[in-house]
Amino acid sequence: MTDRLTSDTFGIDRAATLLREGALVALPTETVYGLGADARNSDAVANIYAAKGRPSFNPLIVHVSDIEMARRFVVWSDTAQTLADAFWPGALTLVLPLKPDHGISSLVTAGLTTLAVRMPDHPVALAVLSRAGIPIAAPSANLSGRISPTTANHVLNDLDGKIAAVLDNGPCPVGVESTIVGLIETPTLLRPGGVTQEDLETVLKHSVEAPEPDTITAPGQLASHYAPTAQVRLNAAQAEEHEVMLGFGEIGGDLNLSETSDLIEAASNLFDHLHKLDETQQPIAVAPIPNTGLGQAINDRLKRAAAPKNG
Ligand code: TXA
Ligand code: MG
Repeated sequence: MTDRLTSDTFGIDRAATLLREGALVALPTETVYGLGADARNSDAVANIYAAKGRPSFNPLIVHVSDIEMARRFVVWSDTAQTLADAFWPGALTLVLPLKPDHGISSLVTAGLTTLAVRMPDHPVALAVLSRAGIPIAAPSANLSGRISPTTANHVLNDLDGKIAAVLDNGPCPVGVESTIVGLIETPTLLRPGGVTQEDLETVLKHSVEAPEPDTITAPGQLASHYAPTAQVRLNAAQAEEHEVMLGFGEIGGDLNLSETSDLIEAASNLFDHLHKLDETQQPIAVAPIPNTGLGQAINDRLKRAAAPKNG
């Protein structure tokens, strides 16, 4: 049985203690629930892969309580400082070179010489990080290949009995995962997410390289990641008879991501609506979503949800 902890002082203390002891705890962040473990403890990190059934070549994001904690593990740069000043705490993950003697388990980096770090913009996640005082590796708290969790119930549906606890703080406000930017050479958008490409370019005052929509750049970004069990058909004007419909704006459906075509609202509803429609066990038709702002991250996740499943 997995404990459902309330996100009060007691729950936060308990979560921090469990994490320090090497247990797995699912934590709310502003993007999605993360499945946390002590990033320095290889046994704990191995349990993340086991609980998720995740291919072990997929490296994990390390969550930190502040810039100082990040700098213990990675070679910081002026660009990293500029981006952290603008977007931390927040939905931006930075990939930077590892420092010598970093102490992070090689299971976290999957043997790479770089590390993905992020300071989440969530009072409960930050309280646990400060209380525990350790770097916390946390992928999204779902079974590998399934839809990311934006509520504690989503987490328990996939992981009940496989993890020590989930810290319940209701729905996650952003609803799509963080944007990942590689800072190894020139700043590169490795995964679109909660911080938009336009926001990054405004702060950096130059364009950010973005990969072709169909290439896979973040290691382990399987095309069929985020897949519901059902077949998914994109850019649908309306549902076929056997389908359920995920609407957007004027194009209604069984559920609508945002009746007012608000992309922020759509992102925060995305995974919850996909979970609900998937429960009908019917194929899902999805209305077109504009590819601007947060629409880039939404379309990235939808494309993966629609990709042919490879097991
Ligand atoms: O919003 C988020 O980022 C959530 C919350 C929990 O923080 N986490 C999340 O983690 O989405 P996950 O494990 O589902 O996705 C991590 C992504 C993977 O696509 C992985 O390939 C990429 O980060 N990644 C991790 N380390 C990397 C590295 N050193 N270089 C490039 N990509 C990396
Ligand atoms: Mg994930």
